[in-house]
Amino acid sequence: MSTVLSIRALSAGYGGRHILDGVELAVSAGEIATVIGHNGAGKSTLLRAIFNLVPWRSGQIELRGEDVTALPSERLLAAGIAYVPQHRSVFPRLTIEENLRMGGYQVRDAQLLRERTQGVLELFPILSSRRSQLAGALSGGEQRMLEIARTLITDPQLIMLDEPSIGLAPRMVDAVFSTVQRLRDQGKAVLMVEQNVRKALSISDRGCVMELGAVRLQDRATDLIDDERVARLYLGKR
Ligand SMILES: Nc1ncnc2c1ncn2[C@@H]1O[C@H](COP(=O)(O)OP(=O)(O)OP(=O)(O)O)[C@@H](O)[C@H]1O
Ligand SMILES: [Mg+2]
Repeated sequence: MSTVLSIRALSAGYGGRHILDGVELAVSAGEIATVIGHNGAGKSTLLRAIFNLVPWRSGQIELRGEDVTALPSERLLAAGIAYVPQHRSVFPRLTIEENLRMGGYQVRDAQLLRERTQGVLELFPILSSRRSQLAGALSGGEQRMLEIARTLITDPQLIMLDEPSIGLAPRMVDAVFSTVQRLRDQGKAVLMVEQNVRKALSISDRGCVMELGAVRLQDRATDLIDDERVARLYLGKR
């Protein structure tokens, strides 16, 4: 498996306050890596720091062996990193199709943009049949699907998802997770943050436990589920 994302000694914070403290992490093509950790551990900050949305940082970030440290977010997007934030980010007053096209605002070739939009709609029948409806009319889970679909328009190598299952009914959680698995099967590298620990780890290849701004433990996801400490702290077992 080829390494897509590699992070070394990443530290970052807000206004002088240290949040991330020497994060080391790598994600390969065709792999889902899931980051778990308590509220405030710095999981969202990690994804935001990778996407250069956190003001202060040090360390090194490589995409497919190329140094992309401190590139502005648009350049990272163009280089192949996609990011779906924790909070909803669809444009509610635009249609589904318009939302998808917004995802491809960097794709200058109109023909290519049409083809990509068409291709993504084929992958998401739920969205396809309602393509001219306003995104604000979709359910929470459907909006999550649209957010994920929108990232695919740029044909990213790495997709970062911050709590894709948050607030969703169990059936939609399954739908979102099977979409994530499909992306992995297409060879994308997926870096996901999840609170739905058991389900997320069960579809993941690797799990990373984040505590106080650093990755304290990394292992095969199936082994993490069986880890006594992880079970006690993150799976609610005694
Ligand atoms: N914009 C900000 N300005 C200042 N501090 C922030 C900002 N965003 C987050 N923080 C702080 O950074 C720390 C880590 O927050 P972060 O959102 O990364 O945690 P998290 O692990 O994603 O938590 P959760 O599981 O609740 O989403 C917290 O102490 C939080 O208060
Ligand atoms: Mg968060």
